[in-house]
Amino acid sequence: MTLFEKEAPILVTCPKGIPEYLQAEIETLGFKDAQQLDAGVLVRGSIQDCMRLNLWVRTGHRVLFELKKFRAFDADELYKEVLTIPWDEYIAKDGYFRVDASIRDTTVNDSRFAGLRVKDAVADYFMEKYKERPNSGPETTGICLFLHWRENQATLYLDTTGEPLPKRGYRKRPHTAPMQETLAAACILAADWPRLAEEGGHFIVPMCGSGTLAIEAALMALKGAPALLRNNLAFMQLPGYNPEEWENLASQAEDAENSDIKGRIIATDNDPEAIEASKDNARLAGVGDFIEFKLCDFTETEVPEGPGIVMFNPEYGERLGDIKELEEVYKGIGDFFKQHCGGKSGFIFTGSPILAKRVGLKTKRRRIFYNAKIECRLLEYELYAGTRKHKE
Ligand SMILES: C[S@@+](CC[C@H](N)C(=O)[O-])C[C@H]1O[C@@H](n2cnc3c(N)ncnc32)[C@H](O)[C@@H]1O
Repeated sequence: MTLFEKEAPILVTCPKGIPEYLQAEIETLGFKDAQQLDAGVLVRGSIQDCMRLNLWVRTGHRVLFELKKFRAFDADELYKEVLTIPWDEYIAKDGYFRVDASIRDTTVNDSRFAGLRVKDAVADYFMEKYKERPNSGPETTGICLFLHWRENQATLYLDTTGEPLPKRGYRKRPHTAPMQETLAAACILAADWPRLAEEGGHFIVPMCGSGTLAIEAALMALKGAPALLRNNLAFMQLPGYNPEEWENLASQAEDAENSDIKGRIIATDNDPEAIEASKDNARLAGVGDFIEFKLCDFTETEVPEGPGIVMFNPEYGERLGDIKELEEVYKGIGDFFKQHCGGKSGFIFTGSPILAKRVGLKTKRRRIFYNAKIECRLLEYELYAGTRKHKE
């Protein structure tokens, strides 16, 4: 049986806080029995399924295809188990490979060392059988392997993604503290934007920075596949890979795209460089014509009539001095919500609970996400229209 005919468990990884949204995405793609984990979602399928997942998931980081699950108490057992895998089915003897490792509660305490033992075992497998071995290193241009090791339980995967999926390929110009694309997508899904977009709602992003939230919202409204710009996904290096299959998946995705967005997507920032970066990024993502960018203070952002989402990602300051200055900004966001956003759903993504209190509105819901290691919250405010709009 060739690699492309096999089925195995597939682990789609993501940061903590996101599996709920990733699971929903994966189920929408037709996968049954998707199982939510702490930082990922588990399904079963083939390498073709991995290709589809790579193309479509907005909130996942890597798509991992299981090669072997085994018990390993220490680095020696790890080495011995990895040596038993028929590596020449996956890597050419004159090829190139990379190993990533994620370990926790193991007798080895450095993930780089665990990765190195995997590398050694693969190299020794080839040396014993062929007296030559593939090169290895940090590049994602060859076969990518991923070791997941918790206590005595190890799983070795083919990483079919390589360069992680948040790197969509459109953000050539990052700006101050850009939000990771997958995190932005999770916040937008949490706000129920795809449903609202179908109904003609608006998506408004004051303080847009490099445009990530607006671009992800536009991609979702257009049903545009997030990985269409990627020409370097790791499955492309697998033996037996047929580029036509990917081209077919990509053109089916392009054919299924909406040609227009019913509502408006408005993105503003008071920094001219942010607006320039956002415009460039949106053009690269293919959504430049669907977002209205404007240079202005957030208080002057146009909020059109009708249902919609207003989503802020203000700075949240790491030093106390910053926090003092930002208190006024957060208070201003609360006032903006009250005075201009009646009837909309308001959201603030922030890592500062202290600043969040300055908004002065009652939150409808708080969702916990992680921005790198920082625990952040997506705060939701229901902004009543008419007589109830000042309710606090
Ligand atoms: C944390 S960044 C947003 C990052 C964005 N989510 C991204 O992914 O790139 C905050 C942005 O708020 C903007 N900003 C700060 N104060 C502002 C104000 N008073 N009016 C408009 N924009 C403001 C900054 O220029 C910056 O681009």
